[in-house]
Amino acid sequence: MTAFIITIDGPSGAGKGTVAYRLAEHFGFELLDSGALYRIVGLLAYQNGLLDHEKIDENAVAELIDSLSLSFCLNHDTKTVEILINDRYLIDDIRNETVGGYASKVAVLPKVRTALLSLQKDMAKGKTGLVADGRDMGTVIFPKANAKVFLTASAKARADRRVLQLHNAGKHADYDVILAEIIARDERDENRLVAPSRPADDALVIDSSDKSADEVFATVLDFVNSQR
Ligand code: C5P
Repeated sequence: MTAFIITIDGPSGAGKGTVAYRLAEHFGFELLDSGALYRIVGLLAYQNGLLDHEKIDENAVAELIDSLSLSFCLNHDTKTVEILINDRYLIDDIRNETVGGYASKVAVLPKVRTALLSLQKDMAKGKTGLVADGRDMGTVIFPKANAKVFLTASAKARADRRVLQLHNAGKHADYDVILAEIIARDERDENRLVAPSRPADDALVIDSSDKSADEVFATVLDFVNSQR
């Protein structure tokens, strides 16, 4: 069986997670949240003291990955993706800008990307379909995907959304700090040597700055259906 693969790439906060979740639910496909993989690796590297140094020990971070078994499952009640590490639910908060920063530091390391390669490709094996969300899903991991989307938004729009999200969760949010962190992470992701964040040549590019989540989903769904 060959899986029907949909890739959703683009920067953080552009709405990839929401559209990927909705597509997976709509089609009954598996979901690969590759950003979560890098976030987990970044957090574990930090917790193991591997990010304290000027130069990160690439081999040590890659070894960490070899000891991990990771899977994702959709929680239809909360409409979120839950992550299992070695068969236990992840309880640490990885969806914050601090962990996003750790993720983008380990994501520049070629050995880390190689160590995560087969884990990501294997997620499509034996499945009817897969929605893969990240930076290099359409360019490196699934270059032959059936439908590729690159979802972007201005840094300002993404910072606004993040601030609103934090306020809604009753948390403090400093707009200027968040905007600076987003810009710094974009810079690292777009300019790294391996698998830089960029649209695949055959991707549909959508700017979500002035679009609602429903509008984005409708556009992506039309596009995916046109490729089936
Ligand atoms: O998408 P998300 O914000 O969760 O990703 C966190 C970080 O992980 C990104 O800023 C990027 O550095 C890295 N990443 C990556 N390749 C992917 C997914 C995420 O380099 N496919």
